[in-house]
Amino acid sequence: MSEIRIRGLCPLKGEIAIQGSKNAALPMMAASVLHKGTTVLTHVPRIQDVFCMMGILESMGCRCRLEGHQLEIDAADLTSVSIPEHYIKAMRSSIILLGPLLGRFGEAVTSYPGGCSIGRRPIDLHLEALRRLGAGIREEDGKILASAGRLVGAEIRFGFPSVGATENALMAAVLAEGTTVIRGAAREPEIQELSHMLNGMGARIRGAGTDVIQVEGVKTLRDTQVRVSGDRIAAGTYIACVMAAGGRICLRQTEPESMTAVLSAFSRMGARIQAGGETVTASMDGRPAAIDLRTSPYPGFPTDLQSPALAVLASGRGTSCLEETVFEGRFATARELVKMGARIRVEGNRAMVEGRFPLTGTRVEAPDLRGGAALAAAAMAAEGETVIGQCRHIFRGYEDICRDLAALGASIQRESEATWVE
Ligand code: UD1
Repeated sequence: MSEIRIRGLCPLKGEIAIQGSKNAALPMMAASVLHKGTTVLTHVPRIQDVFCMMGILESMGCRCRLEGHQLEIDAADLTSVSIPEHYIKAMRSSIILLGPLLGRFGEAVTSYPGGCSIGRRPIDLHLEALRRLGAGIREEDGKILASAGRLVGAEIRFGFPSVGATENALMAAVLAEGTTVIRGAAREPEIQELSHMLNGMGARIRGAGTDVIQVEGVKTLRDTQVRVSGDRIAAGTYIACVMAAGGRICLRQTEPESMTAVLSAFSRMGARIQAGGETVTASMDGRPAAIDLRTSPYPGFPTDLQSPALAVLASGRGTSCLEETVFEGRFATARELVKMGARIRVEGNRAMVEGRFPLTGTRVEAPDLRGGAALAAAAMAAEGETVIGQCRHIFRGYEDICRDLAALGASIQRESEATWVE
């Protein structure tokens, strides 16, 4: 059983380095299978999702060596193109292996994350893009079988800028014959990072970071070494924590230019933010102010920080409206925050929040990865002790949230640890 215990109302103060980005590292790991050779990634976060992706790669015949935060992947002897089912259930984003496997081997076998039927969400855009590149995709005994000779470049048009589908299309197109144009592409910084890595391997990609990406297919790739950027969502989470707790923190190894919408929203909520180079300093006096906020694809406010923002607004002053436009029904955190005394009313994809301070420490359950981290932020503004259960969700994406928050002065303890860190 994994639990985190937090004693609230303790201002934060201090400096930490931000872990490598989960959402950048996972597609980069997937991209390594495109090349019959070695890829080295540095500043890789030591999180469950990365361990899970290593497990998948190893099960297919890759050799992975993680030393500290450096991960070496040798995909020369990759023999299986089948992604084991239990991994797919554990990590939905394993779907991003489909494109690179098809690109290199002309075939790939996977199954539905969650078992919905073919052609429907949430992987319809992935499959459609691969079909456009010439892959035949069929369903047999609950498995998805994708095959092609060599993929052929084509025009792909996304009606919604899906991050994963854009990454899959991009990776599949790298070794395809001829030119691929992806329109309506997602513009997230992680797509630029992936393209930068692939270009370092010898790919020819232009336009990543815009909604039109052009890929000129190449025949072979080469070894490369690349650094994973600082995690903009982890950085945003810790800023949410200082906003709930009060105090002043300094975050190093961040990418402030990829956090413009976040830093601007947090400033409107009353945080004083200074960003320069790779450092963000955030301080908060008094309670966060109410704002209306909506999530949207990059460069908008990220859906992954919607729950932490909800926690901050719930412990602030005044009435806010938070609208979720990327994922349906991503308000499970609201239910847990209400247990802590928060006043939140969810109507469809909107949450109406009436700020209240302090919240009350109690037992809550992490509903998902970001929701769990949001509960840690809420606990900072709660009187007494908050116990967060189901913490395995949090460890999927945060290397050591207890270490980081303790270094910032929080009173936080993991169940297995015997002593309080104050
Ligand atoms: C990625 C991130 C995740 C983040 C999300 C949105 C990774 C590993 N994960 O997830 O943390 O929350 O971007 O910024 O990078 N959709 C479809 N059909 C598809 C694919 C997606 O309908 O084939 C829908 C989804 O149900 C969702 C929306 O599109 O409503 C956004 O999904 P998408 O951008 O694909 O997110 P992921 O790549 O899964």
